[in-house]
Amino acid sequence: MAKHKIAWLPGDGIGIEVLQAARIVLDAADLDAEFVPGDIGWEFWRQEGEAFPQRTIDLLARVDAAMFGAITSKPVKAAEAELSPALQGTGLIYRSPIVRMRQLFDLYVCLRPCKAYVGNRLNYKPGIDLVVFRENTEDLYAGVEFSPVPKELSAILSQVSKPFSTFSSLPGDAYALSCKINTRAGSERIVRAAFEFARKFGRTKVTVVHKANVVRATDGLFLETAREVARDFPTIAVDEANIDALVMWLLKNPFNYDVLVAPNLYGDIISDLCAQMVGGLGFGCSGNIGEKLAVFEPTHGSAPKYSGQFKVNPLATILAAKMMLDWLGEPEKAARIETAVARVIEEGQVKTYDMGGSASTLDMAKAVASHL
Ligand SMILES: NC(=O)c1ccc[n+]([C@@H]2O[C@H](COP(=O)([O-])OP(=O)(O)OC[C@H]3O[C@@H](n4cnc5c(N)ncnc54)[C@H](O)[C@@H]3O)[C@@H](O)[C@H]2O)c1
Repeated sequence: MAKHKIAWLPGDGIGIEVLQAARIVLDAADLDAEFVPGDIGWEFWRQEGEAFPQRTIDLLARVDAAMFGAITSKPVKAAEAELSPALQGTGLIYRSPIVRMRQLFDLYVCLRPCKAYVGNRLNYKPGIDLVVFRENTEDLYAGVEFSPVPKELSAILSQVSKPFSTFSSLPGDAYALSCKINTRAGSERIVRAAFEFARKFGRTKVTVVHKANVVRATDGLFLETAREVARDFPTIAVDEANIDALVMWLLKNPFNYDVLVAPNLYGDIISDLCAQMVGGLGFGCSGNIGEKLAVFEPTHGSAPKYSGQFKVNPLATILAAKMMLDWLGEPEKAARIETAVARVIEEGQVKTYDMGGSASTLDMAKAVASHL
């Protein structure tokens, strides 16, 4: 029996291509693993009315970790229009598989390391080495949303919230409501994960990102909880930053930051900014990590315009595979993969289009594999 059981979820478009590339590297690293393919993505929505079928959920419950490529998502009405004729008008509503996966398996940490590899001409500045901890299951992504807003809800809000009086006379279909829900336990565990990571890897500072001066209830709770957690880590400096000011300072002086921890939406924003500072979507890797399962992926989507061309950069996915090996307790293999990626970038012989070259997705993977 193989040492590790890994669900393999290519999804749509370039997701299929970058996962093929990652597999070349994992095989070259001699990973003792069984890769079990799983169905996810747009075709399953169109044919079955479910982009994340129950059989894939069952598969994820049986594996140690998963690699996920990318999926195509469309707004609710466009999604309904693409359902197979037999499923149209049956009341099916498209739900993002990745958001569901994070919630179903309580993958509460979204870990996004952003490192400027030497020689990458896409680096914003040399030496950037940031790690973002984004809370992955709560906040504005909790999925508690209303459009139209039911009358009962508007009646209750009118009673309990003074500021709601501005909206209370509006008909339900004249506005929409998305709830930002942050729990004390959810805030505590993501902040603790960030501090524990800092302590384990010798990082010196954790910056807590918020907007507690305006969003007092939810961000106030996040910040207050973060301050309590920080007391358990006296050797690590703690810093607090408003999200709006932070994006400006992060760009101005990325070297003032080390580990950043944020509620879901702010984390989503800063992790894309950080990824862009180290080369953009071809380099942005990510881990969705819970207590029992972790799913690793590039941060990019299915890039339909490049689908089928084997042209995009697989390094984000290869670096996500490296993160998976760390999670699986294979640090030596993980380090070898990262060193191989770093050497290919520094040598500059094999470059995909985004790096200014013309190497294919699989050429890049073979180059990394040859350096292992
Ligand atoms: N996690 C996910 O699966 C995920 C994430 C984002 C978007 N999406 C979905 O993907 C689809 C396309 O979305 P989009 O076009 O806005 O974003 P995208 O990330 O798919 O691509 C945007 C552009 O970024 C560049 N790019 C992306 N990946 C690259 C790579 N590996 N190498 C080089 N260049 C790369 C390409 O120029 C591409 O056209 C949509 O349906 C969207 O909903 C899925």
